[in-house]
Amino acid sequence: YGTTGINNQGHLEIGGVDTVQLAKEFGTPLYVYDVALIRERARGFKKAFEEQNVKAQVAYASKAFSTVAMVQLAEEEGLSLDVVSGGELYTAIAAGFNPAKIHFHGNNKSREELEMAIDHQIGCIVVDNFFEIELLKTICQEKNAKVNILLRVTPGIEAHTHDYILTGQEDSKFGFDLQNGQAEKALKIVLKEKQFNVLGLHCHIGSQIFETTGFLLAAKKIVNKLAEWRDQFSFEAEVLNLGGGFGIRYTKEDEPIQPSQYVSDIIKEVKSLTNQLSLKMPEIWIEPGRSLVGDAGITLYKTGSSKEVPGVRKYLAVDGGMSDNIRPSLYQAKYEAVLANRPLDPVNETVSIAGKCCESGDMLIWDLPLPEPGYDDILAVFCTGAYGYSMANNYNRIPRPAVVFAENGQATLVVKRETYEDIVRLDLPLT
Ligand code: LLP
Repeated sequence: YGTTGINNQGHLEIGGVDTVQLAKEFGTPLYVYDVALIRERARGFKKAFEEQNVKAQVAYASKAFSTVAMVQLAEEEGLSLDVVSGGELYTAIAAGFNPAKIHFHGNNKSREELEMAIDHQIGCIVVDNFFEIELLKTICQEKNAKVNILLRVTPGIEAHTHDYILTGQEDSKFGFDLQNGQAEKALKIVLKEKQFNVLGLHCHIGSQIFETTGFLLAAKKIVNKLAEWRDQFSFEAEVLNLGGGFGIRYTKEDEPIQPSQYVSDIIKEVKSLTNQLSLKMPEIWIEPGRSLVGDAGITLYKTGSSKEVPGVRKYLAVDGGMSDNIRPSLYQAKYEAVLANRPLDPVNETVSIAGKCCESGDMLIWDLPLPEPGYDDILAVFCTGAYGYSMANNYNRIPRPAVVFAENGQATLVVKRETYEDIVRLDLPLT
């Protein structure tokens, strides 16, 4: 996984740093990122566009993992940034990210959030619904501001992990439906408002997708509509944003294609479609989250108690769980793991990794092959870089772990571990 390897002490290392040392220095649970791998992924996406000579923006979907350092890393790599809340926007601004390269998403942005976005003159607002058109128009009038917008459309394609299904009328809380005239109605409204500079369209068909078919179908439906709208409204989109959702390999069973391959396929399709319809080739924007940071992150835990249910299974508990990685309980997500302090020991046990939360569903991995584990081993769970820290919570009042960036043998703390003081910081006593 990534640049994890085994060093000459026989320990798992990441970014050239010994994981056992990291656990000792920063404590556990601990999220550790291989920074070089994030850079490599970012460059892969950008290169795929450059190779085909297409104007593009690769916007990191910061919901996957947003912290000041991560946002700064995204900027260093020349990425744009997708934010979906005032909190993510605030993080970006606090990190000094160029507002002109921030895109703001969400199906229920509040007045305050929209005002914040306009005050910071961010690059573009992805308008999701009729209510928002009105709200945004009002705010722009009050502030005498003009904003770049994309219209989010639902093309009627629902992508699932391994396949996709056509859903004619997509039942989704996001966006304007492309099939039933909603998108057209929205476009008509926004085109005549002088507060809006309509850059183009956006769609996002799903997450952890393993095939390009869904993206190509979505592109086709949208480009066909664009041809209709050019004739109807003399509207030519400058931007086509096809969202994120490129799948990654969590376990041996997953077989994603290279992230950059999705991009090449999408570009070829859009080029050929726009050619056929004599449309201007739009800029292509994408919003990868998971595929930029997912496999670059690991979580280190300390092993603790164990329990054997004779003839059934052996449970081994770690010092974290659904509070730092809710994905197994929420989506039955699968992960792989090794003992970081002795990854080469012969595997002779099957154990199920339990979290420490008061909930039977708090299981991280079922039936994991491991060397016979002891107390205080270090368990490294792979591929926890996306939607791990970002979905972490304080269930059972467990403090959230620290985050470390590892690169070239150097470890840097980028998020401090929460303390018990932090846990009660906002609490007020009974009066
Ligand atoms: N763009 C939009 C509009 C999105 O809604 C999303 C994800 C992305 C981009 C980034 O998708 P990615 O490339 O990361 O797949 N919590 C779930 C994932 C939720 C994704 C929501 N939207 C999980 O842990 O799997």
